[in-house]
Amino acid sequence: MSTQTQGGQKTAASQIAPATGKLGVMVVGLGAVSTTLIAGVEAVRRGLAKPIGSLTQMGTIRLGKRTDNNSPLIKDFVPLADLNDVVFTAWDLFEDSAYEAAAHASVLNDKMLAEIKPYLETIKPLPAVFDQYYVKRLNGTHIKHGKTKRELADQLIADIRAFKKTVDRVVVLWAASTEIFLEPTAVHQTIESFEKGLESNDISIAPSQIYAYAALSEGVPFVNGAPNLTVDIPALVALSKKNAAPVAGKDFKTGQTFMKTILAPAFKARLLGVRGWFSTNILGNRDGEVLDDPQSFKTKEESKLGSLDYIFEPEKYPDLYKDIFHKIRINYYPPRGDDKEAWDNIDLFGWLGYPMQLKVNFLCRDSILAAPVALDLVLFMDLAKRTSSLQSLGIQEWLSFYLKSPQTAAGLKPEHDLFIQSMKMKNTLRHIKGEELITHLGLEYYD
Ligand SMILES: NC(=O)c1ccc[n+]([C@@H]2O[C@H](COP(=O)([O-])OP(=O)(O)OC[C@H]3O[C@@H](n4cnc5c(N)ncnc54)[C@H](O)[C@@H]3O)[C@@H](O)[C@H]2O)c1
Repeated sequence: MSTQTQGGQKTAASQIAPATGKLGVMVVGLGAVSTTLIAGVEAVRRGLAKPIGSLTQMGTIRLGKRTDNNSPLIKDFVPLADLNDVVFTAWDLFEDSAYEAAAHASVLNDKMLAEIKPYLETIKPLPAVFDQYYVKRLNGTHIKHGKTKRELADQLIADIRAFKKTVDRVVVLWAASTEIFLEPTAVHQTIESFEKGLESNDISIAPSQIYAYAALSEGVPFVNGAPNLTVDIPALVALSKKNAAPVAGKDFKTGQTFMKTILAPAFKARLLGVRGWFSTNILGNRDGEVLDDPQSFKTKEESKLGSLDYIFEPEKYPDLYKDIFHKIRINYYPPRGDDKEAWDNIDLFGWLGYPMQLKVNFLCRDSILAAPVALDLVLFMDLAKRTSSLQSLGIQEWLSFYLKSPQTAAGLKPEHDLFIQSMKMKNTLRHIKGEELITHLGLEYYD
């Protein structure tokens, strides 16, 4: 049987530059997620723990037919930076070292923290670009000063250039607090209007956008782990393409939305209707405190709300999903710290309209779920930057797998279904390596 009837397609492999030398990761925000990431990478490097949850470290990828039994590790299939070559630095508005910040976040236990304390103490944040207008619940003094946002961007560019001298490649990761809800305005439309806005201190330009502008101007990939409006504006997408500096969607997909994008596609696949989906969370870390501010919550709410509509497509299935009531609450509850608890109540209905309920109670650990997602995004963005067929695309839609709010080309509906996202990601890896894509058709086994 020909390869064509197997459904897969083989394309020419892309040029992929090797991952030699050091990969510098500049983390914006030295809080719970980033210290859990940094401490975790160091713990794995020392053999103290396994990188559970990370596809780049533990995942495999099937090549060829099911009967070929050929499933190498992803990290052996595509050239990814080795964890031993990853170097971290950070920006924060508090002066705490990564050790002090990790101790404050109290995600990792004292024993593990004590073992890597000397390493974590070496990571001290650079002063931040920060303005309390965009994150109401924080107030720090370790910040940069400048007359204009342009001057602040230039100071970040100077930081990036200085770090670049010590490493071979750089990725910037926003793991900082969620900013207030902003909508795109005229200033966000072109690189020129954005640069004018930096000069004139346009209020629509948030600090996260200043960091993103600095990174993309330097040809550095930018990952947005939070739900704020950052690179999802035409000006920064254009800059990303222009400078071959990849971007992706936003907001790590970790707890409740992770579950939602598993369950909702299952209901839809079986044409089970949904009348209501009530999601609530209690969370007591600093992120929870920031999200207690209604304007930051609104940013998170929009990001969390998006997935169901796209998955259910009520316009195609009005009998099943037209009037779905979708509600999301996040409650700041300090006693739980980073150990978030999420409840979902789903009112669904089946054959002849008979109602049913499903309850999901996820007692998760926010940063433990987020750290491997952040690591994979960083390593894959660095891969995209080194890959001829990906580096100038701007948006890396194949990384939607990791994000609550995938970013797409203008006018294209995002894909939220976790398993379609997973297939898309693995097929992208096969594609850049010139391997046959896997469609799961499988008729050839019965030929
Ligand atoms: N943990 C998860 O599962 C998860 C999932 C999705 C998204 N997120 C997002 O990731 C982000 C980080 O979460 P976290 O739990 O680590 O929060 P955190 O509050 O522990 O850490 C955020 C850090 O960012 C710093 N910061 C804020 N604004 C800054 C700026 N302009 N420049 C530099 N530093 C700045 C704060 O001082 C703080 O140290 C949040 O936006 C959160 O919503 C987390």
